[in-house]
Amino acid sequence: MILVTGGAGFIGANFVLDWLAQRDEPIVTLDKLTYAGNLQNLASLDGDARHTFVRGDIADTALVTQLLARHRPRAIVHFAAESHVDRSIDGPGDFLHTNVVGTFRLLEAARAYWSGLDAAAQAAFRFLHVSTDEVYGSLAPQAPAFTEQHPYQPNSPYSATKAASDHLVRAWFHTYGLPVLTTNCSNNYGPLHFPEKLIPLVILNALEGKPLPIYGDGLQIRDWLYVRDHCSGIRRVLEAGTPGETYNIGGHNEMTNLAIVRHICALLDALRPRHDGQSYAEQIRFVADRPGHDRRYAIDASKIQRELGWQPAETFDSGIRKTVQWYLDNAAWVESVRTGAYRDWLRRQYAP
Ligand code: NAD
Ligand code: DAU
Repeated sequence: MILVTGGAGFIGANFVLDWLAQRDEPIVTLDKLTYAGNLQNLASLDGDARHTFVRGDIADTALVTQLLARHRPRAIVHFAAESHVDRSIDGPGDFLHTNVVGTFRLLEAARAYWSGLDAAAQAAFRFLHVSTDEVYGSLAPQAPAFTEQHPYQPNSPYSATKAASDHLVRAWFHTYGLPVLTTNCSNNYGPLHFPEKLIPLVILNALEGKPLPIYGDGLQIRDWLYVRDHCSGIRRVLEAGTPGETYNIGGHNEMTNLAIVRHICALLDALRPRHDGQSYAEQIRFVADRPGHDRRYAIDASKIQRELGWQPAETFDSGIRKTVQWYLDNAAWVESVRTGAYRDWLRRQYAP
């Protein structure tokens, strides 16, 4: 049994689905179902006895303590977070609550539970903290990619709160001996990605005839990884990582935002041509830049490859093609997210 936090979100849901497709070890998913949490992401698990969903906040110590006592997990995989940089600029409060206070309370509940285990179970227990390359800050054009030794230089409220949570996790290992693992991953893309983020936003706006907004000059660089490769990296770290260590995860796919958007437009031109015969690239619009916008991220993933034998399965070309096709094939998911209908279950379940 493992406890997964944030399992109704983009990466968490892909992780839960992949895990249960490959093994029978049960999962308890704890998720607050913020705007980013979508139970439809886990709908294929309805009636599956291996999966238990609990709606709740990682900062709710009483709830987490009760879940740990009842389900006795051998590991916690911690995805739950506020994850969108633009939202963190508009309102950092929720980011402080979940990413910092929430992670702190989760660590404390985990420590209390872990302290009560017998020696063998204590040694086997893992707290895996899912983090980001954004904690390292922005790279100069010719600088080598981020290694695990790169100094922490977070620049957005989001990355500052993720950096804070990484430091808490580290401290709980060094001070209390809690067997923690931290992964720092580059930009993910793939199925179930909420369309506030660049790639799904561009796919859906293109199909709806809307502008494709490019911040600033569009020459910022991100390093893209297909979400299921991130999930396989996390599984590998969980099974073979050394407690107290951090592992970078990335796919060696540095690309400018403009190149990404043009690539998606070209795919859509081939798969779902515009009625007027024009390219979707006609819809590109340059808009005001994101404040404090990091210019470049790039991950050096040689440690996880060398020490744990992990490598991504997808190239950018294969992963983005699957992703675009997924959005074309999943009109019902897209529609419910675009209209907000994916929140109906919540409204019915928790109506006053
Ligand atoms: P997401 O925003 O899609 O999902 C976050 C999930 O956490 C949602 O289901 C939400 O309801 C839940 N949640 C939020 N606050 C909560 C709380 N207080 N208690 C319980 N649940 C809560 O995020 P994502 O893109 O899937 O990212 C998951 C994790 O991976 C985050 O920790 C993020 O920092 C990290 N990460 C993301 C990327 C990326 O490219 N998306 C890359 C590297 C690391
Ligand atoms: O690097 C890992 C991080 O990647 C994760 O930790 C974050 O949770 C995740 O949201 C993502 O952060 P980014 O800010 O890089 O992702 P986003 O999709 O918001 O933006 C990608 C790039 O595209 C970024 O340079 C900003 C730009 N952008 C984004 C949007 C939404 C645009 O140019 N136009 C847009 O409309």
